[in-house]
Amino acid sequence: MSIDVVVLPVAGLGSRFLPATKVVPKEMLPIVDVPLVQLAVEEAARAGIRDVVLVTSASKRAIEDHFDRSWELENMLATRGRQELLELVRGVLPAGMRVTAVRQPQALGLGHAVLCARPVVGNRAFAVMLPDDLIDSPAPGCLADMVALHARTGACSLAVEEVPREQTGRYGIVSLAGERITAVVEKPAPAQAPSTLAIVGRYVLPPDIFDVLEHAAPGAGGEIQLTDGIAALLGGHDFRPHRFAGVRYDCGSKLGHLQANMAWAFKDPALAAPLRAWLQQHLS
Ligand code: UTP
Repeated sequence: MSIDVVVLPVAGLGSRFLPATKVVPKEMLPIVDVPLVQLAVEEAARAGIRDVVLVTSASKRAIEDHFDRSWELENMLATRGRQELLELVRGVLPAGMRVTAVRQPQALGLGHAVLCARPVVGNRAFAVMLPDDLIDSPAPGCLADMVALHARTGACSLAVEEVPREQTGRYGIVSLAGERITAVVEKPAPAQAPSTLAIVGRYVLPPDIFDVLEHAAPGAGGEIQLTDGIAALLGGHDFRPHRFAGVRYDCGSKLGHLQANMAWAFKDPALAAPLRAWLQQHLS
């Protein structure tokens, strides 16, 4: 019953961060000094997951390379006696984790990206994480709680949070009956939204979703939507909302990315005091 594989769809265009994302994938943008995709893999490791499936595109080789060994760099750091940096570089992929990359030939939507992982995931229940939703939760983290719920009850789950009604058009929105999800709708206009509880980038899904996605027609925005695939499964599966503790930063937006950088900088004792002093000086 335990979830041992996570899919990271990282084949999107990242158009909101152009020109930075012309050659650098959005998921490689750093939060202080760690790329978003590495923070996601670290959260997956804390959830006990061992297999990571990256769904990439032709322009995203840097992500695969980031999790590969870099012999040249390691040799240079070893020769120069830079032991601390050497361990940092060697520890990019947490011990015991394995990365497989598959290609999404065209950015046809998040649902299509998840479908591309089918040959690796096979008939296992699995997790999906969107690295640009950075969730700062108490340890072991948001995904670990969702994986534990699945181990305890067999339930699938979607991470959710309340959003202002005027923002429902940016999210998948859920309807609940008690603690079960009864409906999901992708990007509803505020007046049509059944609630203001939005899905954010963590999912625990059954393998049956692949059959649904295989035959899915394009939905909102002309894309094959993961939300539409989930909607088709709700009758036959127990889907629960997971209201995580802590804060989510939407690092796919400039403001969210800046806020996450600030929050992470304040966690670093070497940065916190000078950053606070600089802010006080500039805000007064
Ligand atoms: P976004 O909606 O953030 O789109 O995708 P995007 O293309 O990455 O960024 P913008 O809107 O152009 O700035 C949510 C997640 O789904 C992945 C993205 O990589 C991101 O992790 N995705 C989206 C795919 O892997 N393939 C797709 O076809 C679409």
